[in-house]
Formats: sequence, C-alpha cells, structure tokens
Amino acid sequence: MYDVLINKNNKLPENINFEIVKTDSKYALDIYAEKNTFKNFKKLQTYIFEKYGFVIDIESGYRSIEKQEKLFNEICLQKGLKHTLKYVAKPGYSEHNSGLAIDITLFDNGRFLVDFEFSSHEIINIIEKNAHKFGFIIRYPKNKEYITGYGYEPWHLRYVGKKIAKYIYNHNITLEEYKILTI
Ligand code: DAL
Ligand code: ZN
Repeated sequence: MYDVLINKNNKLPENINFEIVKTDSKYALDIYAEKNTFKNFKKLQTYIFEKYGFVIDIESGYRSIEKQEKLFNEICLQKGLKHTLKYVAKPGYSEHNSGLAIDITLFDNGRFLVDFEFSSHEIINIIEKNAHKFGFIIRYPKNKEYITGYGYEPWHLRYVGKKIAKYIYNHNITLEEYKILTI
C-alpha cells in the first residue's frame, strides 16, 4: 500500500484510505499526515537535528481534494498555468491527497524557509543523503521531469517505507521506474 503510484496519470485509488493524524509541526497548527509518514518524519527530524544541528519541520502534509484545488487555483493566478502544471498536481492527483507526502521547511535564523528558498540551502544535500534511512524518497528529483511529470522539488518527500526507499536510493531511480521494474 505504501508503494501506491500517484502521478499525472494515476489518481489516488478510491479504495485506499490511509490513517491520517495531526502532526506537531511548528510551522502551522493544522498540519496532518499519514500515521507512519509522521512517525518516521519525527525520526528523520531528530536525526537531522542531532547529527547536523538543523531544525526541519513539515510545511505541508495531507491535503483534502478541496485544499489541493484551492492551491492549484491560487498558484495559477500568481504564477500562471505553465509554472503551476510543473509544480502543482491537479486535485485528486496529488500525493498530498494520500497523506504520504510531506513538504519540508527549514527553521533558520528565526524564520521558516520554504520552496525555492529551501532549495538553495545546503540542507537539501543532507535530506537527499539521509531520507531513505527513514523510508522517504525525494519524489521529484533533478532532471527526471520527463519521468515524474514535475520539476525538481527537493522539499517534497514521499513515504514508501524503508525497503523501497533504499532500493530507489541505491538505484537512483524514481517511483515510476521502481513500479515498472517490480511488476
Ligand atoms: N507539488 C506536488 C506535485 C503536488 O502538488 O502534489
Ligand atoms: Zn509536496
């Protein structure tokens, strides 16, 4: 179930319902995520703090279909359709609708760095090197847009469980490729 493929061609299946829990994110009060996704994020968060001294948190976790629709429309108004289609999924086609995706923020110098500010910080290399140890993959890697359908998003982690995350990390592939290899 944790290997479910959600992308531009694959909607979150209606018969899959993950357990969603409230997180303790300091970024905002009402951030939710799938239970094991959150549990393992907490382990990653502690590890990153103890080993590297950086404070990461969840900027966005579970999103209802309505919330995704609102986000899509807002970004579209702000940045146009081309940009939106490169970085935001249509409602029902987002991993955030499952609760298995989390967008990471870095608390740095008294404020939270998100999205493209986050991308220009060294933290992205640390996350890239360590996420798989806790069952996460960088879902939209650099130069893989032709496979994933989305631009590089170093902040968007997808929980797949440790075994699959390690496989994807070691083989430097995407979830799309993993699914084809393991049919
Ligand atoms: N940013 C990713 C593609 C989403 O909206 O789910
Ligand atoms: Zn995301």
